[in-house]
Amino acid sequence: MTDSNALLMPIPDGLVATGAATADFEPLADLADLPSGRMLRVTRGDLDLLLVNSESGICVIDDRCPHMAAPLSLGMLDGCVVACPLHRGRFDVSDSSIVQFPTTGGLDADGGYHAPWTPSDSAPKAEPTDLKAMARAATRVRRLRYYPVRIEGGKIEVRLPR
Ligand code: FES
Repeated sequence: MTDSNALLMPIPDGLVATGAATADFEPLADLADLPSGRMLRVTRGDLDLLLVNSESGICVIDDRCPHMAAPLSLGMLDGCVVACPLHRGRFDVSDSSIVQFPTTGGLDADGGYHAPWTPSDSAPKAEPTDLKAMARAATRVRRLRYYPVRIEGGKIEVRLPR
């Protein structure tokens, strides 16, 4: 018999969601509803969660882009990389790294600045000026936050903060 918990992805160091480490596990979804290569949005209270069955295993993160909070569940999963539908940011769930910075530019999690860019399949647009430009440049792409997961009796169970 195989251990379903072998399907889980280790959480990157220091990236457990606030309040989740000591919370109780609660069932969130059936394992059968999250086949390999798929993502699933589940809402609990005011938390929108994204269950990801990536190449590195199953993990649960917020269903909010770490850039400007768009629902990643509307994006695409390719291997371990989730692509956001809003500004083309691409994020690796296996280590929380930024694979492609959002088109708007801005700050990474360490405060490094990244300039805006135009995808090759899009016509260049005039960049905003003044306050809007300042807001874009000062918007920080945060690190992903993870909720501890286990699999019990075919259910995906997650520690959710209260
Ligand atoms: S909101 Fe996701 S890349 Fe901007």
